Formats: sequence, structure tokens, C-alpha cells
Amino acid sequence: MHVCSLRLSHFRNYQSLEVEFHPQLNLFLGFNAQGKTNILEALYCLSTTKSFRAAADEEMIQFGQEAGSIEGVLQREEGQEQIRLELHRDKNKALFVSGKKQKKLSSLLGRLPAVVFSPDDLFLVKGGPGLRRRYLDLTILQMDQGYLTHFQQYEKTLKQRNSLLRQRVQNLEPQLAVWDLPLAEHGAAVMLKRSEISKRLSEFAGQALKDLTGGLEKFEVRYEPQLPLEGGEGILKDKLLQALSNARREEMARGVTVVGPHRDDLGLWVNGQPLRKFGSQGQQRTGALALKLAQLSLLTEGCHTAPLVLFDDVMAELDEKRQAFFLNRLQQGGQAFLTGTSAADFSAASKKARIFSVESGAVRMEQQGP
Ligand SMILES: Nc1ncnc2c1ncn2[C@@H]1O[C@H](COP(=O)(O)OP(=O)(O)OP(=O)(O)O)[C@@H](O)[C@H]1O
Ligand SMILES: [Mg+2]
Repeated sequence: MHVCSLRLSHFRNYQSLEVEFHPQLNLFLGFNAQGKTNILEALYCLSTTKSFRAAADEEMIQFGQEAGSIEGVLQREEGQEQIRLELHRDKNKALFVSGKKQKKLSSLLGRLPAVVFSPDDLFLVKGGPGLRRRYLDLTILQMDQGYLTHFQQYEKTLKQRNSLLRQRVQNLEPQLAVWDLPLAEHGAAVMLKRSEISKRLSEFAGQALKDLTGGLEKFEVRYEPQLPLEGGEGILKDKLLQALSNARREEMARGVTVVGPHRDDLGLWVNGQPLRKFGSQGQQRTGALALKLAQLSLLTEGCHTAPLVLFDDVMAELDEKRQAFFLNRLQQGGQAFLTGTSAADFSAASKKARIFSVESGAVRMEQQGP
């Protein structure tokens, strides 16, 4: 599967854009602030309905406009499919698949899996647990429809429970207890799935780090929940219920839910030491790359199709050996979109790619590619 074409209207610095892609390798070259990342962002929206960098959808609508849209045509084995996402300032975004409005935005998940590599990936290692949970959840959501229900129900329950706790209403306890059971049920399912997928991620990340470093380091990804997971879903649910009951006073005092998978972390360990604390800058960067490569491998395995690879500004950061490694890896996979300021950063790959120049919200094809 690949994306044949993209159409943008009032999206970021694109008034309107129509571009046809190469089925394998696409390079976007240009000076800073011309609109290269915006293209990758639009593609990522077709994959997940969300941006990988904007806090709010509204930010993606062109300044001074009330609405914007992203439209992509996908080539699948069964035929072509059109995905259209409409963004509005004053109402929710709308999703259309081949002209048919979708009731749920989540119906897009897994249709066009994608992995973004960006310099911000370093925060996956250096930042707080929230970013790592998001990385893990987004990986699972793209490949497992069953996870979506538990994940969404958990989030919904947590929100309602937190809002109750914040209001500090009289006679709170019985109202709170109503939410304990769904929180524990969906929480247990979320934790077990996260744990299962983390193990697979760890295998892939370990292999990726070996490939990147020539086998010098042992990398482990460990799901680190608050509660021990032994014993299966029923037992875990009971443990969560017990923990919620033990935390009653604390929760009421602090006005927030303190028990559950929204507090878990994904630990990153190199040679038995936490990468976040003891890793050098270079080790942390390599660790982040390995995590993204692991995501790519896992999604390729779990989605039965090679994900889109969106490679934003990362090439220039890599040394020659790693550049070669990445380009080789990309050639084995599906369609890739790479940005950079100079073709020189892409060495041999630039011969095999379709090359576009990007300038002030306009894209021009410079080389058609094979
Ligand atoms: N909502 C918006 N409406 C109009 N223009 C926008 C909007 N959001 C961002 N821009 C503009 O888009 C440009 C940035 O585009 P983008 O991030 O794609 O640049 P880039 O080519 O990737 O640059 P760099 O090489 O620095 O990463 C900026 O000039 C910014 O002002
Ligand atoms: Mg950019």
C-alpha cells in the first residue's frame, strides 16, 4: 500500500497543494520554514487524524482561515481509497473515507500505519513518562482494534472520576465507587496489553540497537506498572480495586485519581542502567532511534502492511554508517518521506527518490525518480 497523492487546502502555509508521490522514496528539500515538515504532518494526520506536533488541531488551519482540509489517495491491493480530513475552527474535525463520512475518527486507526522519526524523539528518552505511554499506546492502537475500546473507556472513566474528585462534592465516596469497577476492568486490560506489546518492542529495540551500534550494547524496554501483573486479568482487576480503596483518602485530599495505568512508565535500560539517568547524549539519541525502529518493525508485523515512514530532518544528524543503515532499512520497507535541507545528506538514496523542492508553501518536483 502507498499514498499516491496528497491535496491540501488552507493547511499551515499551504493555500492549496496537489502533489503526486513516488511509491517508495520521496525527498523534500528546502530552506528552513518553507513547509517541509508541514507535508509530513499532513500525512501523519491521514494516518492518525492527529498531528505529531500541534497541541490543537486548530493550529494546522492556515492563519486567517476558518477551515482547512487534507486529502490523500491510497493505493491498496483491493483498489484506491480516498481519505479526507476536514479541520474547522468552530467545530470538530470530520473524516471521510472514499466520500463516506465516518461516525468515528478512530475508524482511521490502522488503515494507514505510520512512524515518524524526528529530532524530538530524544524526548522519548529524556522526557517524562507521558510521552513514553503515548508512544506505546499509539503503537498498540494502530495495530489492535481490541485495545481501542479498553483504552477509550479507561480514559473516559478516568476523566469522569477526576472531575468528581476535583469538585470535592459532599458524600463523594459512593459516587466515586461507581467508577472504580470500570476503571479497574479497563485498566487491567490496558496494562496487560501494554505489558505484552512492550516485550515484543523490547526484542525489536534490542535488535535495532545492536544493528546501530555493532552489537556493543544491550537495550531493554520494560513496562513498569505500579502494580505487579502476575495472575491474569481478573486478579489484576481485583488488585486495582484494592489499591483504589486503599488510596481513597489520598485521592480525596489531592483531588485526582492516583491509581491506574495512567501513571505507568516504559523503562528504557542500557546494559542494566536507566538510559534517562546514565546514558550519554549519543546513547540517548541512539536509544530513541532504536525505539522508533522497533515501532516500525512491530507495526510492519502487526498491521500486515509496511507503515509509512516519515523521516523529518533526521538524516543530517546521523553519521555516515547510520545513514547507510537507515537507507538500507527504508528500502526494505514501504513508502518513505524524508525531509532535509540538502540532497547531499541523502547520498546514494537521492538517485532512487522522487525529489521535491519546497519553497514558501509551494512544492515543485525536481526529479521524477525511477
Ligand atoms: N497555521 C498556519 N498558517 C500559516 N502558516 C503557518 C501555520 N503554521 C505554521 N505556518 C508556517 O509554516 C512554516 C513552517 O513550516 P515547516 O515547519 O513545514 O517548515 P520546514 O520547511 O520544515 O522548516 P525547517 O527546515 O526549519 O524544519 C513557518 O513559516 C510557519 O510560519
Ligand atoms: Mg521542519
